[in-house]
Amino acid sequence: MHHSTAIDTIATQSLIKPNPHLDAAIRNSQAHGLPAITVSALAGQFLAIQAQLIDAKRVLEIGTLGGYSSIWFASTGAHVTSIEISKKHKAVAEENIKVAGYADRVNIELGAALDVLPKLAERGEKFDLVFIDADWGEQWEYFDWAVKMTRKRGCIYVDNVVRTMLEDGTTDPAKAEGSLVAKVGKDERVTATLVSTVGSHKGRVDEAFDGFLMAVVKGEHH
Ligand code: SAH
Ligand code: DHB
Ligand code: MG
Repeated sequence: MHHSTAIDTIATQSLIKPNPHLDAAIRNSQAHGLPAITVSALAGQFLAIQAQLIDAKRVLEIGTLGGYSSIWFASTGAHVTSIEISKKHKAVAEENIKVAGYADRVNIELGAALDVLPKLAERGEKFDLVFIDADWGEQWEYFDWAVKMTRKRGCIYVDNVVRTMLEDGTTDPAKAEGSLVAKVGKDERVTATLVSTVGSHKGRVDEAFDGFLMAVVKGEHH
């Protein structure tokens, strides 16, 4: 067995408590033909722990899919606003979230993130934590909106940043400049780091290396 598969399997079996709602969401999403691209259980638990550490009351998610990560966030008691471009994904997510008992805690906004984000900002919405997990080509634009809508000392996570770097050729120093990490590094509003992960979620050994970009918005939280 590849090391990454063994690590994922052992840690998941050891640390993740059985959760029928999450299992049902995965099964129902699969039954509706949604792609198997949710965060892993360990990553979902990581995000839920992070939400608890900062006592997040309001979470913004970009990329709902079947609501799997939304359920992880909602399980902490936080209110979740999640943006999804696909009508079908939104419908499946709403079903899964209702079955999990979180219908009153999760609100899914239908539309392209770059259309919805300005509307949320216009309404004056503020979040404690933002999780970006959608269209990779627009990660920087989402990040920029996220910073504007996150409270001071709130945090922003961007999924799949390491894989994006590997696939975009960011590992070539000549191409590094336009990358998300380079842009975020020049952004005076945040302090950021990379949380590299190893795993083989769903047995995809070729995608064993991945990781989040994690940022905190500078300033005093009152
Ligand atoms: N966060 C989810 C997985 C999201 S997969 C989980 O872990 O359970 C990415 C989702 O982003 C897909 O459902 C896709 O339809 C959606 N998406 C892709 N481009 C988008 C865009 N521009 N705006 C909003 N959603 C988008
Ligand atoms: C893919 C997208 C994701 O957000 C992810 O976490 C894993 C895979 C994909 O499009 O293949
Ligand atoms: Mg992802």
